[in-house]
Amino acid sequence: MDVLRDTPPEVLPATALTLATAGDTTLPEVRDAADGCRACDLWARATQTVFGAGPVPARLMLVGEQPGDQEDVVGEPFVGPAGRVLDEALEAAGIDREQAFVTNVVKHFKWKPSPGGKRRLHETPNRREVGACLPWVESEVRLVRPEVLVTMGATAAAGLLGPSVKVTRDHGTPVASELAPLVVPTIHPSAILRARDRPSREAMLAGFVDDLRQVAARLR
Ligand code: URA
Repeated sequence: MDVLRDTPPEVLPATALTLATAGDTTLPEVRDAADGCRACDLWARATQTVFGAGPVPARLMLVGEQPGDQEDVVGEPFVGPAGRVLDEALEAAGIDREQAFVTNVVKHFKWKPSPGGKRRLHETPNRREVGACLPWVESEVRLVRPEVLVTMGATAAAGLLGPSVKVTRDHGTPVASELAPLVVPTIHPSAILRARDRPSREAMLAGFVDDLRQVAARLR
């Protein structure tokens, strides 16, 4: 599409959102445009832009924080360890991942080298980086038109629902939002992996599955 190709890379996200809102563009076109995004500096150290994946439209949209190490290499969201926790929880809740559109609020992997320099360690994106990327996920919402939108973790909740939502306190409680008829913040699968001990991990996983069961009930 000429408009997107001719848009300067730093203003691409906002242009793509305008076109998606007007119904003038498709998800593959927006995804291709996101490959050239330079609205923040994260692209420079990432392997590629990791856009959302799944059916369009979809009744359920799941939004995480940013691609991890494996997602950055493969180019798809939630295919690494956090993705396996997500798959386990979705299955326990009776939700078919194939029916959901899965994405992140930030489309590039932000990382720093481990002390030995051998591994890439996740770094949380800052507010400016989330803000720069937000039009991409908003474009996805416009095109996917989910009936239920689930934010996973603090970064997705803050980016899409505002700073007043606290995941530990509010997970599982629907939030009024124009993004979808039902919007539910929940726990991030990576937080479950990082839990300090087994009982905490099991409790967090149970909370995550409970939130997803509520979603499954709505979708039935
Ligand atoms: N964590 C996320 O938030 N998203 C991914 O795609 C992988 C890990």
